[in-house]
Amino acid sequence: MEEFKEAMAALAGGVCVVTAVDSEGAPRGFAATSVTSVSMRPPMLLVCQSKSSGSYPVFANCEHLTVNVLAADQHELAGLFSTPGADRFTGTGFVPGPEGTPVHPDALASVECRLRETVDAGDHSVLMAEVLSVRTCPGEPLIYHDRRYQRLSQD
Ligand SMILES: Cc1cc2nc3c(=O)[nH]c(=O)nc-3n(C[C@H](O)[C@H](O)[C@H](O)COP(=O)(O)O)c2cc1C
Repeated sequence: MEEFKEAMAALAGGVCVVTAVDSEGAPRGFAATSVTSVSMRPPMLLVCQSKSSGSYPVFANCEHLTVNVLAADQHELAGLFSTPGADRFTGTGFVPGPEGTPVHPDALASVECRLRETVDAGDHSVLMAEVLSVRTCPGEPLIYHDRRYQRLSQD
């Protein structure tokens, strides 16, 4: 439905790279704006993932995942993590976090989680995850609005 797409293009969102490790130990990740805080007790968040994503089976079955909240100057990383077939982890600076999932040291926040459940939602799957550890650093966020990357301050 075009009007719905238009409405969602009007909704500004912070850009994240969500990561996990597959059953063979390889890092996987995708760019996502559909990340939302859900609960404080216990701390939980959700991520919506398209079932047509190549990494959908990995995230649907993973034990841990990390949400890396991108900084304004990390738009190239967002592009890489939304380009099918791109080599996303060679030379891009990710390191294993406490549970082994890829964490980016320059991200504004890295939130490491345990996957609690997946909820079927049309052509997407909602990943409900409990927060295990958090790292933050100050900076300006990368925003996706009106189908393009933007900054909060437009100088
Ligand atoms: C700004 C932006 C936000 C995105 N948000 C999501 C999202 O929330 N959920 C999702 O499944 N895909 C989202 N995508 C698309 C995925 O990043 C893209 O389909 C990616 O290639 C999936 O990786 P995979 O096929 O290797 O799993 C977004 C893409 C962009 C550019």
